[in-house]
Amino acid sequence: MSIADKRYKLNTGAEIPALGLGTWKSSPEEVQDAVYHAIKVGYRHIDTAFAYQNEEDVGKGIRKAIDEGLVKREDLFVTTKLWATYAERVEENLELSLKALGLDYVDLYLVHWPIYMNPNGNHPLFPTLPDGTRDLIRTHNHVNTWKAMEKLPATGKVKAIGVSNYSVRYLEQLLAEATIVPAVNQIENHPALPQQDIVDFCNARGIVITAYSPLGSTGSPLLTADPVVQIAKKRGVSPATVLLSWHLARNSVVLAKSVNPDRITANRNLVELDADDLALIKQYSDDLTAKKQLQRYVDPPFNVDFGFFDKTYK
Ligand code: A2P
Repeated sequence: MSIADKRYKLNTGAEIPALGLGTWKSSPEEVQDAVYHAIKVGYRHIDTAFAYQNEEDVGKGIRKAIDEGLVKREDLFVTTKLWATYAERVEENLELSLKALGLDYVDLYLVHWPIYMNPNGNHPLFPTLPDGTRDLIRTHNHVNTWKAMEKLPATGKVKAIGVSNYSVRYLEQLLAEATIVPAVNQIENHPALPQQDIVDFCNARGIVITAYSPLGSTGSPLLTADPVVQIAKKRGVSPATVLLSWHLARNSVVLAKSVNPDRITANRNLVELDADDLALIKQYSDDLTAKKQLQRYVDPPFNVDFGFFDKTYK
């Protein structure tokens, strides 16, 4: 078995494939072919979100693969996410996602962020105020959203529920009142943002970490970082392979985003990193920590004036 076929057990008893296809920033025009190609070359886990505005085409890619007999629906693990403008209309947003995807159920439904945005904002997805700040409703208790999420598994429309972009502080608030422990916390994760406190907290509680933007995304120096290149050379693989494989070594799920067929195929060539490799990467992360250079490289304007959930990152 290829290491790319590794799976983890969720706290529901279901299995989640360790490698998933990420679709954030995959345009509707590109994503259908990307999803179909990914399934064809062996991916069994597809990650999308209402906010990515590509669920319809993700669904078409899935449908094509099923219609051609490449897989059955039950062979696939499909994740989508509740958007923040729907924090008080959880079932409504799930229905919209299922309809767009053309599916009866998703394997995992995540709260995308622990925030509530104005449902009547001037933009349905990323409401902003005239001064450019985000249109957040600050009196909302994110635990109430979780209470609504907890009702979903019984409907059969979601197999598991979880969260995304939750810091330890938010998880502690949630767990204090939760009946169902989130199956997953999906966070941005790479050696320049190891978020070790969140990873450790979740590992200790059986919450599987899913890493998004494992390559650091736009503007990331990771693909050319010394230790990454050094390990890649030693193992005769690409730097991207090293960065993706790092998550499997820490028992996390990793989402490899690509719309390029060659890169989608190549991103399944994962390797087992050894203790020396991990020590080199840890040294790199520790140096960045010491220099206070741990950074999100993803879409920087997205964070500007997002004071409420900026606190989810230190
Ligand atoms: P593309 O979709 O054209 O392949 P991240 O997951 O960190 O956000 O990074 C995603 C970005 O990395 C996308 O722009 C994607 O572009 C690119 N990418 C995906 N796979 C690879 C790879 N193996 N090597 C280099 N860049 C990649």
